[in-house]
Amino acid sequence: MSGGVVAASAPGKIILFGEHAVVYGEPSLSLAIDRRMHVTGEATQGPTTVNGEALDPHHHAYIHQALQLVAGGHVRLTTASELPSAGGVGSSAALSVAAVAVLLHLKRGTAPPLEDIARTAFEAEYATQGAASPNDTTVSTAGGAVLLSPTRLAQGRFLWRIERGERVWHAHGLDVPALPLVVANCGVRGRTAEQVAKVRRTVESDAGARDVVRAIGEITREGVQALAGHDLKRLGRLMNRNHEALHALGVDIPALARLVDAARKVPGTYGAKLTGAGGGGSMIALTERPDEVRRVLEGMGATAFRAIATSRGVEVRP
Ligand code: PMV
Repeated sequence: MSGGVVAASAPGKIILFGEHAVVYGEPSLSLAIDRRMHVTGEATQGPTTVNGEALDPHHHAYIHQALQLVAGGHVRLTTASELPSAGGVGSSAALSVAAVAVLLHLKRGTAPPLEDIARTAFEAEYATQGAASPNDTTVSTAGGAVLLSPTRLAQGRFLWRIERGERVWHAHGLDVPALPLVVANCGVRGRTAEQVAKVRRTVESDAGARDVVRAIGEITREGVQALAGHDLKRLGRLMNRNHEALHALGVDIPALARLVDAARKVPGTYGAKLTGAGGGGSMIALTERPDEVRRVLEGMGATAFRAIATSRGVEVRP
């Protein structure tokens, strides 16, 4: 392992369309946002530590998996986050991506290719959560707008292909849109692994739920067209439909639904939906009045911020 400190950062993300359905081979459309996870690391003779504490495989599950996968020896790691944890904005993926970038760089002595980071970070997420799509880790690695799809598409810039069992996902980079978006966290922790497992049970036992998953896929495909045409009204309507479909899958909770309803009532709001795994976590609103929506949602006890899409993916340097 090379000496010296390596520092990496990786962005969080919001899912515009397709969460949960993407686990079952439907497309998803996500944006990297301008809030990041920072990780530094250096080789050490002593035990591996995270923020000065001995690595705890349970508490530091994503880092533990990243260390297992990269197998580079003992390291001293520090983390600092601009993202709410368990907040549906991709903090665990950004942590996996930044940690993998640091560990691969320390092991190889040179900046690793993005595709290696995306693959290894996906494996770390998968091992920790028991099920996952490569959506969050791909967006956090590549930055920008990312369309994940079971087949290779003509749209955008082809990034890479990732397989797991019988599933295969093709990642495509799209132009980064300037969308007026507000993100609000409802204050209830949403646990991705639990929500993914819950949806899996429903999808396996209920044909109606499988129809909902396919309907989300169709919404996402329409969303890609609406985004290309910068048609905010259509995007908003599709976000609303996507939210109702996620509600039908059982991942909406009253605390999120209240925020979604309140945001939709502000004049100038095109649409709103939960984002990420649900069961808590965050919602997003597409609105001409982001400051007003933020004030309304904060008045209801949410933590809200204006999200700006960013083309900056993972960055790693010695
Ligand atoms: O909880 P988040 O924001 O990391 O989103 C998870 C997205 C899911 O589609 C629910 C799961 C996945 O791995 O794609």
